Amino acid sequence: VQASPTDLLAWYDRHARSLPWRVSPADKRAGIRPDPYRVWLSEIMLQQTTVQAVKPYFEAFLDRWPTVKALAAADEAEVMKAWAGLGYYSRARNLKACAERVAAEHQGQFPADEADLRALPGIGPYTAAAIAAIAFDRPAAVVDGNVERVISRLHAIETPLPASKPDIRAHTEDLVPEDRPGDFAQAMMDLGASLCSPRKPACALCPWTSACAGQRLGIAETLPRKAPK
Ligand code: ADE
Repeated sequence: VQASPTDLLAWYDRHARSLPWRVSPADKRAGIRPDPYRVWLSEIMLQQTTVQAVKPYFEAFLDRWPTVKALAAADEAEVMKAWAGLGYYSRARNLKACAERVAAEHQGQFPADEADLRALPGIGPYTAAAIAAIAFDRPAAVVDGNVERVISRLHAIETPLPASKPDIRAHTEDLVPEDRPGDFAQAMMDLGASLCSPRKPACALCPWTSACAGQRLGIAETLPRKAPK
């Protein structure tokens, strides 16, 4: 059986995590669009920090600076103070610099194009893809550590990371649907954060269990392999 994005999306429709920066599948069907500012802010905060730790900071930033223009106009020292505790403080300096650039060069609207996003401070290839997909429904391949695990297992990729990265990327690109690429990216993250866990994956509950080569071969839990450091 071939892995189908539709099967993953059907699972996501039932099991999507409710997160403060996320628009649920039901709300999207009702016509609500994600706010690119919220998507960007969450992705920067989530770069080196867990979902649970990010939540209160995300809410506090939004209360204080509800738009990218507000953040652009903020006092840098106040932004650094609000970031305190999240760590990796270059993220906060880039956050402020990025907000200023979006305000000055993009009329306060985040660009939708991956290349334009990558040109902004603090936005690398992963974050550009995540914003393009989640905020703008562009068919970008969003590959983080969770997605690497899901794809390594789905295709029983035994080549260790990081050598397997190009292969993982190619398989992810093949899977990204034209319809709902933003929900697809978030569904991959949720699958990796829940059923397709590093230890004891819950394969019996997985929408892709019958398509998963790792599961068929009995090696899912051992993937992805990692090259010794
Ligand atoms: N990790 C990175 N981006 C994320 C997102 N949008 N939702 C949940 N976890 C994430």
